[in-house]
Amino acid sequence: MTPDELRSKYLNFFAQRGHQIVPSAPLVPENDPTTLFTGSGMQPMVPYLLGETHPLGTRIVDSQKSFRSQDIEEVGDNRHTTFFEMLGNWSLGDYFKKEQIPWVFQFLVEEVGLDPQKLFITCFAGDKEAGVAKDTEAEQIWLEVFQKYNLDPKGRISFYPANKNWWSRAGVPSNMPVGEPGGPDSEIFYDFGADLKLHENSPFKNEECHVNCDCGRFLEIGNSVFMAYVKTESGFEELKQKNIDFGGGLERILAVTKNEQDVFKTDFFTPIITKIEELSGKKYQDNLMAFRVIADHIRAATALAADNIYPSNKAQGYFSRRLIRRSVRYGLELGIEQNFIADLVPVVAKIYLEPYPEIDNQKEKIAHIFDVEETKFKKAIDKGLKELSKLDKFTAQDAFGLYETFGFPLELSLEEAKRQNKTIEPKIEEEFAKHRAQHSDQSRTASAGMFKGGLQEHSVTTTKYHTATHLLQAALRLILGPQVGQKGSNITEERLRFDFSFERGLTTDEITKVEEQINTWIKENHQVSKQIMAKKVALESGVLAFFAEKYPDEVSVYSIGPEGHYLSRELCGGPHVKATGEIGPIYIEKEKAVSAGVRRIYIKLKN
Ligand code: ALA
Repeated sequence: MTPDELRSKYLNFFAQRGHQIVPSAPLVPENDPTTLFTGSGMQPMVPYLLGETHPLGTRIVDSQKSFRSQDIEEVGDNRHTTFFEMLGNWSLGDYFKKEQIPWVFQFLVEEVGLDPQKLFITCFAGDKEAGVAKDTEAEQIWLEVFQKYNLDPKGRISFYPANKNWWSRAGVPSNMPVGEPGGPDSEIFYDFGADLKLHENSPFKNEECHVNCDCGRFLEIGNSVFMAYVKTESGFEELKQKNIDFGGGLERILAVTKNEQDVFKTDFFTPIITKIEELSGKKYQDNLMAFRVIADHIRAATALAADNIYPSNKAQGYFSRRLIRRSVRYGLELGIEQNFIADLVPVVAKIYLEPYPEIDNQKEKIAHIFDVEETKFKKAIDKGLKELSKLDKFTAQDAFGLYETFGFPLELSLEEAKRQNKTIEPKIEEEFAKHRAQHSDQSRTASAGMFKGGLQEHSVTTTKYHTATHLLQAALRLILGPQVGQKGSNITEERLRFDFSFERGLTTDEITKVEEQINTWIKENHQVSKQIMAKKVALESGVLAFFAEKYPDEVSVYSIGPEGHYLSRELCGGPHVKATGEIGPIYIEKEKAVSAGVRRIYIKLKN
């Protein structure tokens, strides 16, 4: 099956069931300045889920282009991509679980041809805070479906709490801002089989595998969200209309039709991979990371460009620049010396000729702009190489300097140093790793807001401000929305300064609400607890980490509030108070703009 065939099959299947086919919305949300990118099929549908009338009725089907900037660093494994298409079918107050569950299973088994024995289901276990019970209704419907397909139900359905089986744009119920819709969901996983060999460095090596464990045995291919709730000031309420939001990973579904774990081996990528092989003279199998990064990033950057996002230093353009520069670096690692990014653009355009002709229509312009960007970046790299040529000996310190200033990976500088016959410091790899670790320690410290007085200065007051930083961030996200993210912080004995992403100034009312929320949490005297865990595990459990790439593999996570109902969980080096009551009352001194899209708040302790 080709990508186009699979997409059409899906659209037609639901069209035959009364759905109107709508084209994908652009990658930059229209009329929604609070979000940089369309990251899921739901993004353009929010007003209709909340009750506005959709011009095409109550049953919609689409394949939505999506871009998740937060996944840039994740790319390199067999399944993460920054750009992807999300198949969606939508009931806007029309049908609900008893239609959705059998339909989606029928589509996967009868239309796509997946072996039903390999499909496993997860359902929602219930959540006290949201006041929503275990989803036994979905379970019952699934059991009937299994009967129809003669499937043994034993072990086929697993229940998970809100962090896995509740969907909203903001994540779990406690993270949702007022007005945000969400609901329990039911996911479908494809089983690659128990005999799957895990890499010896896999963080899952010694863990018990389960359907939602991410070790790679099971791959999520679709998620039916029963979008029936909205968060209000006083908790959760049922929406006036019960909606279905189904999201299916087009690339992943195509992969599993061939029992293939690697999405880069589907026809969404093979033409790009083949072209990179041709340009580099290297093989995909021997250079997985570099090939995957380049293929993913240039596919994404091209799709973004077709929606008018070009490399720049601002907002969305910054991500385009990052995608291209990372690709150039990995290209060098593959030994590609000439400019090559522009050559990949027409290959991407061809893959999407049918669904997204706007890419093909603009391919020359896109290729040209990418080429200019590549040349510019390579000039910066050349400067780095000149620096290198001035050295006699090449040390880890030098390598780290090149890494920091020009983004040179160690392998690249080492190769260059060898080529220039430099004397290379023995154990340079180990020493380089030490520099990086030290640096991430410093960044971690800085991001926790400690740079003013340095690490030594953990006074009682600054410790209070550290914990207040986490409460401030949680309160801002609760009141203004999940698009708020930390951009920086700085703590002195006198005050906390906190920078965060937000498009406009806060109203007096919002400032009061944030202040009151923090003071309420302080009064409630919530426990602050610390756990050490693998970074990957922490990130996957939804812990906030705005400088994630700077942290080491083992991280400390500070959580505030009762277990399972945390108000805040962040990667952080600490130190923190033991319970929020120790902070005492605070007030917001001022709030102002720092730069486009970034605001600054000052907080002081009252006593
Ligand atoms: N909106 C749901 C998701 O993105 C379907 O997983």
